[in-house]
Amino acid sequence: MTFEPRIVGFLCNWCSYAGADLAGVSRISYPTNIRIIRLMCSGRVDPVFVLETLANGADGVMVMGCHPGDCHYVEGNLQTEHKIKMLKKLIARTGLEPERIRLEWVSASEGGRFAELVKDFTEQIKALGPSPLAGEKPDPNMLEDLLAAKATAGDFRLRVLVGREKGMIDDGNVYGEGVSQEEFDEVMDEAIAAEYVRNKIYFMVKKEPLSVKELSKRLDLNPQAVLRHIVVMRRRGMVTVDRVEGTTPIYAALEVGK
Ligand code: FES
Repeated sequence: MTFEPRIVGFLCNWCSYAGADLAGVSRISYPTNIRIIRLMCSGRVDPVFVLETLANGADGVMVMGCHPGDCHYVEGNLQTEHKIKMLKKLIARTGLEPERIRLEWVSASEGGRFAELVKDFTEQIKALGPSPLAGEKPDPNMLEDLLAAKATAGDFRLRVLVGREKGMIDDGNVYGEGVSQEEFDEVMDEAIAAEYVRNKIYFMVKKEPLSVKELSKRLDLNPQAVLRHIVVMRRRGMVTVDRVEGTTPIYAALEVGK
C-alpha cells in the first residue's frame, strides 16, 4: 500500500487561505493530503499547536502566511518566522525530523504557488516516510520526547525570548548594548537545550521517582549537569525530594509549579 501522508496546514485568512481558495476555484489540482485550518494570521500559530498536531500523528505540518511586508497585522508573519525557527531547533532534539514542518508565504493571487508548495511538501513527507507517532502504535519514547518539547514550547521564558528576537537585534538589550544574530542564536540554543532537558527530567520523575545518578544514565548527561537542572527545577517548584535512600535523594515531580 502506498503511503499517503496526513498533512495539516495552518493558513492565514487574508493571503494564504485566499490563495488556497483561488487554487480551488481555478481548478488547479493539488494533493488531497492537506487538511487546512484557517487562522486570522500566521502569527496566531502557537508552536504548541504544531507539536500537538505532530503528537497526534500528523506526518507533516505546513504554516502559510502573507509575504513579508503584507501581513494584515503588520509583523505577525515575522513573529511566525521566529517561532518556526525555534520550533525546528526544538523538534530536532526529539529525534523527529524538523523537515516535517514547513513555513511558506503565499499571497491571495498565488493559487498556482499554493498548489505547487503542497505538491512539493507532500513529496518531501513521502520521502521521509510515516511519522513514528502516526498509526495505532505511536513510538512511546518519541511521544514522551514530543510532550517534553511541547511543555518547553509553552514555557513563558522561551516565549519571551522568541518574541524579543527582532527587538533585541534591532534595538539591543535592556542596557542598549547591540546583540548580533549569532549572539542571539547562541542564547536561544542554550535556552532550548536547558528547558528541554528540564522538561524531560520532569516527565521522567513524574513516571517514577529517580536519583540524579539514574537520570544521568538515562539522559546520557553528566551528573553535575543533571544536578544543576534539579536545583533550578526545585527552585521553580517542578520537583521535590520524594525520599532519601542511604545518602541519595530520590526526586519526584510536583504537579504544580514551573
Ligand atoms: Fe497573513 Fe498575518 S495576516 S500572515
